[in-house]
Amino acid sequence: MSNQIEAIELVKSVEPTIAALMNEHRERRDHWYFEDFIPWEQGESFVDKPWDPSQASLSPEIRTTLVLNLLTEDNLPYYHALFGPYFDADSPMTEWSGLWTAEEGQHAIAMRAYLLTTRNCDPRALEDERMQVVQSGWHPEFASILDLFCYTSAQELATRISHRNSGVKSDDEVVHTLMSKIARDENFHYLFYRGVATELFDQSPDLMVQALERVLSNFAMPGTMIPGFQRRALKMARLGIYNLRIHCENVIEPLSRHWKLDALTDLSPAGEAARDTILAMPADLIERAEIFESRQARKVARKTPASV
Ligand SMILES: [Fe+2]
Ligand SMILES: [Fe+2]
Repeated sequence: MSNQIEAIELVKSVEPTIAALMNEHRERRDHWYFEDFIPWEQGESFVDKPWDPSQASLSPEIRTTLVLNLLTEDNLPYYHALFGPYFDADSPMTEWSGLWTAEEGQHAIAMRAYLLTTRNCDPRALEDERMQVVQSGWHPEFASILDLFCYTSAQELATRISHRNSGVKSDDEVVHTLMSKIARDENFHYLFYRGVATELFDQSPDLMVQALERVLSNFAMPGTMIPGFQRRALKMARLGIYNLRIHCENVIEPLSRHWKLDALTDLSPAGEAARDTILAMPADLIERAEIFESRQARKVARKTPASV
């Protein structure tokens, strides 16, 4: 309990940094309008012309990825609710939470507009899944408010990578442009949360390294409640959109470097153990990534007929 109170007081003490980072975000972000990026001229009535999978122009893997990313964005009311209990109505964090939610909302709207206009998803199935996902919600248990700032830093970075890679791998100029716009927003969200977490690390490295260890040891994207999440995530992993190697090299390692974990000293025994656990993660993740990659390579080799 004393750790909980200490964590809340610690976060309240960095509210000036939160306000400054939010102002930086407002200055940095170009306000964009999703309707500029949707090929509306392709739109047709679903009543006159019902959806059929043959109408899709993107590969099934990219469509799966976009739908998974979209359903994750759809669940944003639950992300908004995460910070609510910890901050007063006039806190800069409450203001940020509203701004963040509004921006995440545009991502879901933009992706849905694209997928429906271009007939790259089944509109009925998408709506049924949205109903199911938002009703089941997202109820992660975080040990403290500090965990939340560690989690959002890692999650926004992971989302940036996933969105950007979806665009790159789509082989479609419109998807590439749209997903780059969204990924840019995710990058700014990441910079905000990482900035708050950095200030918290400066104030209390011992509590923060323990929070980070809890988060990274149990890290899961907020879409795990989506129907068929594992199957869909596996497709994304195979395609190189998000997988263990990317998680290690583009999320865990950059965050560890940014917060200079290997140079953290004067920690409590629990803090030292947490730091060592995090520093040992890359070796384990890469070992698991290599097993996954060689299994995939064997599968591809089995499917490819040997040349004569
Ligand atoms: Fe988003
Ligand atoms: Fe975001």
